Amino acid sequence: ATGELYDTRARPLRDLRISVTDRCNFRCSYCMPKEVFDKHYRYLPHSDLLSFEEITRLARLFMAHGVHKIRLTGGEPLLRKDLELLVEQLAGLRTTEGRVPDLTLTTNGSLLARKARALKAAGLQRVTVSLDSLDDAVFRRMNDVDFPVAEVLAGIEAAQAAGFGTIKVNMVVKRGTNDHEILRMARHFRGTGITLRFIEFMDVGATNGWRMDQVVPSREVIARLQSELPLVPLSPTAVGETAQRWGYAGADGRHDPSLGEVGVIGSVTQAFCGDCNRARLSMEGRLYLCLFATQGWDLRSLLRSDASDAQISAAIAHIWQGRGDRYSELRASLPPDQGEERGRRIEMSYIGG
Ligand code: GTP
Ligand code: 5AD
Ligand code: SF4
Ligand code: SF4
Repeated sequence: ATGELYDTRARPLRDLRISVTDRCNFRCSYCMPKEVFDKHYRYLPHSDLLSFEEITRLARLFMAHGVHKIRLTGGEPLLRKDLELLVEQLAGLRTTEGRVPDLTLTTNGSLLARKARALKAAGLQRVTVSLDSLDDAVFRRMNDVDFPVAEVLAGIEAAQAAGFGTIKVNMVVKRGTNDHEILRMARHFRGTGITLRFIEFMDVGATNGWRMDQVVPSREVIARLQSELPLVPLSPTAVGETAQRWGYAGADGRHDPSLGEVGVIGSVTQAFCGDCNRARLSMEGRLYLCLFATQGWDLRSLLRSDASDAQISAAIAHIWQGRGDRYSELRASLPPDQGEERGRRIEMSYIGG
């Protein structure tokens, strides 16, 4: 049962996002608010986590079904011990066309200065660093553990020095918290080869106190940038991409590649479920078909029950072929607080961005 898979809306499976830990050393209020993720919070015991071998086995089976992009997330993935060993195993896999997977990592950057070289050597191709502010006071408040911004910037520099071809920075924009830094962030990264992306604050999970009035629509972000830094729209690099791309214009009004580009991820105001090709695997081996899912499919029991590759592969096919998820498209027509349903949604820190 290998080969391309399509869901009920004819969307192929292309992108596997693997969350390797439910822990994080930050407490960003939009993701792991302190009041919920306090010292009483029960994280998963190590025996519940998939081993690197189990993850790699699943990744291989997913790749046989057309996955060519693999992203490691968390929590904070660099908190998982020896992560570079997993990277090395995943880098050894091949797509159905015989290519190496597009292997990448989303990190808060706090441990990147220490780990960048080992990750690159292990075969990681690119990194995305979350960074919500350049202002130290704002940054410390947003991560809520008083972590200094200078250390994340040092992590980004270490990633550049290690030779990562593509480095992206993700900024979650919250009105009244960090939206005054949109232009400053853009100026800081313009011309550095690093692509900055502005993310709309999402109503993911059940604990982050999301309110629509704190969302800065991507359209507004672009308008604010345009007022000082001329931009031209760029076409998508791939089907189902999350970010809309904009290039910085030079004096002639055309995109100047040396200035680079920015992106906006408008999942609240401009849903992109139409060609969403992403599956998400949790650290304990549950497969989720949407960021806003309330239920996952337990693959770990299969892995630990002597099931053959063919059986697991067939299970993956069955799950994807039954998929109809498109939460962000439906959000507008749902009641504002979905009460119990919302309470059962998975948390971002559990399933990754
Ligand atoms: P690239 O391949 O580098 O473009 O990565 P990506 O944009 O696919 O992944 P990344 O982890 O950088 O995603 C950035 C943010 O987009 C995430 O933190 C989420 O906030 C949001 N996002 C990613 N995928 C989805 C998705 O499938 N649905 C929704 N609603 N938001 C998503
Ligand atoms: N809305 C939008 N993005 C979020 N992230 C975490 N929580 C949210 C949210 N509520 C992003 C982080 C990081 C990635 C792991 O997910 O900024 O880039
Ligand atoms: Fe940690 Fe990232 Fe969530 Fe912040 S957004 S708490 S850094 S996992
Ligand atoms: Fe994909 Fe769900 Fe996000 Fe829509 S809301 S883009 S279906 S993960």
